[in-house]
Amino acid sequence: MGYKEQIRNVKDYIRLPLCYNHWYVAGLVEDFGAEPVAKTLLERSIVFYRTEAGELVAMQNRCLHRSFPLANGTREGDNLVCRYHGIRYAPDGSIVKVPCQDHVPERQLHVYPVKELGPFAFIWMGNPAEPDWDRFPDLPFLSDPTCRTISEAVPYAGSYLLMQENLNDLTHFAYLHRESFGIGDFFFDLPTTVEKTEKGVYCNRIDTNPARVLGPLPADAKERAAGKPVERHDGGYAMSPGVFRGYAPVYIGAEEDPEREVFKSYIMHYLTPETSTSTHYFWSITNDYNIEDDNFYAMSKAFAANGFAEDKWACEEMQRLLDDDHIDHKEMVIAGDRAGMLFRGVMLDWVLEEYVG
Ligand code: FES
Ligand SMILES: [Fe+2]
Repeated sequence: MGYKEQIRNVKDYIRLPLCYNHWYVAGLVEDFGAEPVAKTLLERSIVFYRTEAGELVAMQNRCLHRSFPLANGTREGDNLVCRYHGIRYAPDGSIVKVPCQDHVPERQLHVYPVKELGPFAFIWMGNPAEPDWDRFPDLPFLSDPTCRTISEAVPYAGSYLLMQENLNDLTHFAYLHRESFGIGDFFFDLPTTVEKTEKGVYCNRIDTNPARVLGPLPADAKERAAGKPVERHDGGYAMSPGVFRGYAPVYIGAEEDPEREVFKSYIMHYLTPETSTSTHYFWSITNDYNIEDDNFYAMSKAFAANGFAEDKWACEEMQRLLDDDHIDHKEMVIAGDRAGMLFRGVMLDWVLEEYVG
């Protein structure tokens, strides 16, 4: 099968090989402490623990001696002790002691570069000697003290590519999220942009209806908006196989108005394959307004979690059929699939870059 054919049919598309030369979210910062814990990311078992100084370590969860899982061991100082025969590993993956002999072998576990930002721990899954820091997702708002972020981890029993396709698909909002996000047929009339940019496939829609647009803003902002044009943009693009960046600012005032105000909202989705059919899914929303209002953020979190659970449900339902239903089936493409189909091409480029060069 040719490369292009492999992305035409979803059943083949979701079997594209995993891409390792990227940053992914390994978990929430709070998931990792002094006690070792194991997670499978991109079909690799990895043990995570923190040193005495709190530095996060991510290394191959497989003892070099007899493949015993190191997450069953204990931390001793900054080292990890295998529970089977007591071999001690330093945070750099080197062996510091083998209890039954004097000789210390010069072997090394695969240690993954990690970086914590805001509520998330990111991990570089490629060559540990050459993490590509230019590819580290540019998300400074996650740790910006003038903003507030809510986030959630959601285990999802499906391919990360099905979920990426969902994120690139604007038209499902008016059906799948009709009740949760209150989006109806008006949605199809909003001006929409879909374009391939150097950052990826960008899609955006613009709503100018004040009743819908101003809802979440502080009361004084709503007062200032009276009589002025308003806009809510709702756009995004996949920065990498595992990170989708959404941006949904609300503008008060015309574009040429020097007093135009903007209220920023970054709606992020992070997809880290566990296997090719199961995913560690995370989302976060960062706003630069209402940041003292606990109630607003509690309600926003419940509202978003409810809607995003519908995406998880839909993708899991599709995954189940793709796995179990073996009738010959050719999917059709409709107008709303444009961004998703363009994204398949971007995804293929990442695969080819990694496996073909
Ligand atoms: S299996 Fe780990 S020390 Fe033997
Ligand atoms: Fe959705």
